[in-house]
Amino acid sequence: MVEVSTSILNVNPEESIKTFYDLEVAHTDYFHIDVMDGIFVQNDTESIMEKYAEYLKHITTIPLDVHLMVQNIKEKIDKFLIYNPRTITFQIEATKSKEEVLDLIKYIKENNCKVGIAIKPDTKVEEVYKYLPLVHQILIMTVEPGEGGQKLIEFTIEKIRSVKEFIQDNDIDIDIEVDGGINIENIKILKEAGANIIVAGTCIINSDDYKETIQQLKN
Ligand code: DX5
Ligand code: ZN
Repeated sequence: MVEVSTSILNVNPEESIKTFYDLEVAHTDYFHIDVMDGIFVQNDTESIMEKYAEYLKHITTIPLDVHLMVQNIKEKIDKFLIYNPRTITFQIEATKSKEEVLDLIKYIKENNCKVGIAIKPDTKVEEVYKYLPLVHQILIMTVEPGEGGQKLIEFTIEKIRSVKEFIQDNDIDIDIEVDGGINIENIKILKEAGANIIVAGTCIINSDDYKETIQQLKN
């Protein structure tokens, strides 16, 4: 059984309160908070994601799954730790050294939060293997980070298989999260490849029955 983390990137701001309530009733496992800084990616969603995270902390116990697509990772970790997220995931491509990665992992853990490392489609999985024993989650981007509503990039599916094989061979217990362009049609192959947490935005938010869609993604 996979878990579903609903991306709230493309929620209609005028209907956000109702949408969050409906997603809670529909039993999303997590709210996926897509933080973009306008530097690492073109979009800047920081203030709206802070507003949503603040609000969600007051209305629901469903955990927050924070995805940082930012250049200044430490600064944004501090900004979002205050919402007590379940997980904070940062992009490996925004780091400059192994020491920095190890420091970030340690810092997030010291603040009682799970750590995830995300890789863009063109980043090789081998680049993060050495960190997997130290983190709780690897986020394999199945689209170029930066916006919702894109088409899943097929070659990323093989990366899921490689990571699954590596963690099994090395007895590493972490979640494999996939994110971008995921829907009812392509989810089966992603689960078979080894993903156990699925991020979906458009597929859920644009559907007319959140509960039904989330259930279909889970089964
Ligand atoms: C893209 C984000 C994804 C995206 C998912 O940079 O990290 O979480 O919002 O949205 P869909 O499911 O519409 O691709
Ligand atoms: Zn995301």
